[in-house]
Amino acid sequence: MVENVSKTYVTKTDRITALDDVSFSIEPGELVSLVGASGCGKSTLLRIIAGLSRASEGSVSVAGTTVTKPNPGSVAVVFQEDALLPWYTIEENVGLGLLARGDRRADIRRAVAMAMDQVGLGQFARAYPRELSGGMRQRAALARGLVMEPEVMLLDEPFAALDEQTRNLMGQELRALHSRIGGTMIMVTHSLTEAVLLSDRVVALSSRPGRVRTVLPIDLPALRPVELIDEPEFGVLRNELWQQLEGDWRRSERS
Ligand SMILES: Nc1ncnc2c1ncn2[C@@H]1O[C@H](COP(=O)(O)OP(=O)(O)OP(=O)(O)O)[C@@H](O)[C@H]1O
Ligand SMILES: [Mg+2]
Repeated sequence: MVENVSKTYVTKTDRITALDDVSFSIEPGELVSLVGASGCGKSTLLRIIAGLSRASEGSVSVAGTTVTKPNPGSVAVVFQEDALLPWYTIEENVGLGLLARGDRRADIRRAVAMAMDQVGLGQFARAYPRELSGGMRQRAALARGLVMEPEVMLLDEPFAALDEQTRNLMGQELRALHSRIGGTMIMVTHSLTEAVLLSDRVVALSSRPGRVRTVLPIDLPALRPVELIDEPEFGVLRNELWQQLEGDWRRSERS
């Protein structure tokens, strides 16, 4: 639940209002996308939800508890860059959060193996990040969040660095994973198509300062093959978002 969140960054020379009075609530188990032009405050909002940054005004709560500091067991983040540590193996990377929490080794091993299987990386447990493709590294980053069994998983443009085809496949996998394990997911994406294809609802933010332009429910079948993109009902939803955001995108291009 995001309530009246505003965020102003104060630098030596400037005050930048990144978010202005942003409110929305997310049902447990929903997959929601956050879209908006570059610089509209999407990452800022994720950081606030994750407790990594403080709202200037307003508050965020997860399962009834106000977020005041990072708590990866409640809210886990998958960043845009996969941020794996190069000197650890994939399984060590995935287990870091549990290790930091002081879990027992045997429990960590079991949980890590399960998370790696969920993302289809079981065979690469002992590999190092440099030995994996970009898509596989992104899966490892996903496993690192999953292993914490968080209430909410935040994904900041998780597929931005991937080619279009891999990105489509990863999107499909993410949706399948979400319906298999449940849990709430909030994903930032630049792509309106990806947002419509993968989400239950889309929150669209205006360009700076970020305000909620619209919250669009995506009433499409649960099964969403990529071919759905060519269907008229898909186009209607994507156009709806585009019409809401077109002006913002143009403005952000000029600024
Ligand atoms: N630590 C910071 N100090 C000062 N200004 C910041 C800081 N972090 C972000 N900003 C500013 O806040 C605004 C929103 O940034 P943010 O990174 O949240 O945007 P975004 O929507 O994630 O953009 P993108 O799509 O390019 O990732 C931008 O104008 C940015 O310059
Ligand atoms: Mg960002």
